[in-house]
Amino acid sequence: MIKLSIFLTLTLLISTSTASVQDFCVADLTGPQTPSGYTCKPPANVTAEDFVFTGFRKGGNTTNIINAAVSPAFDAQFPGLNGLGLSIARLDLAPGGVIPMHTHPGASEVILVVQGSLVTGFVSSANAVYVKKLLKGDIMVYPQGLLHFQINGGGKTSVAFASFSSPNPGLQITDFALFANNLPSMLIEKTTFLDDAQVKKLKSVLGGTG
Ligand SMILES: *[C@@H]1O[C@H](CO)[C@@H](O)[C@H](O)[C@H]1NC(C)=O
Ligand SMILES: *[C@@H]1O[C@H](CO)[C@@H](O)[C@H](O)[C@H]1NC(C)=O
Repeated sequence: MIKLSIFLTLTLLISTSTASVQDFCVADLTGPQTPSGYTCKPPANVTAEDFVFTGFRKGGNTTNIINAAVSPAFDAQFPGLNGLGLSIARLDLAPGGVIPMHTHPGASEVILVVQGSLVTGFVSSANAVYVKKLLKGDIMVYPQGLLHFQINGGGKTSVAFASFSSPNPGLQITDFALFANNLPSMLIEKTTFLDDAQVKKLKSVLGGTG
């Protein structure tokens, strides 16, 4: 009887430990993206390439309205980090470039400036403002979900890397949410206290209608 129960305990331990050890869940990008990430690619299909991302060798294209580029290495671009609770992005800001006020609903973020400088900050839920100028080598953290921004006030291109506490941090840019869709101008004016001319101007710049 004792032998049987030891045997059963051992069997249970072995099966439990086998079941709980799953080193990785490389994203199967052919399947749907769910709130808990992608389903796993069969382990036999996983290669070293799944754990490597080479898209940061060159900076993003900053010839655009914000004079800046965000190049994400989230789970959709970098399948190996599916399920691992982190991700990374490269930020390129030409002189005068700006990453407009935005939030990542799903992640906190740490940013490291590797070239140039940035003026950056965030606004807390209590509407307190935390702004600093970061030089090359400096790091700042933005707590999850809070509005934040980056501006390159210097004379040369600034480069930074941002690391996130989720493989899919999400990105909501306030101006795009307000002025780059078909939310009726009347509702925007009512809910933001902006005047009609300003709302129409921003809609035309950012491609909004209505
Ligand atoms: C895994 O590899 C097999 C054989 O190459 C292929 O048929 C199958 O579609 C692959 N599955 C996924 C999810 O990549
Ligand atoms: C950068 O984007 C602009 C505007 O879309 C485009 O005209 C230009 O060719 C792009 N440059 C490169 C190097 O891809």
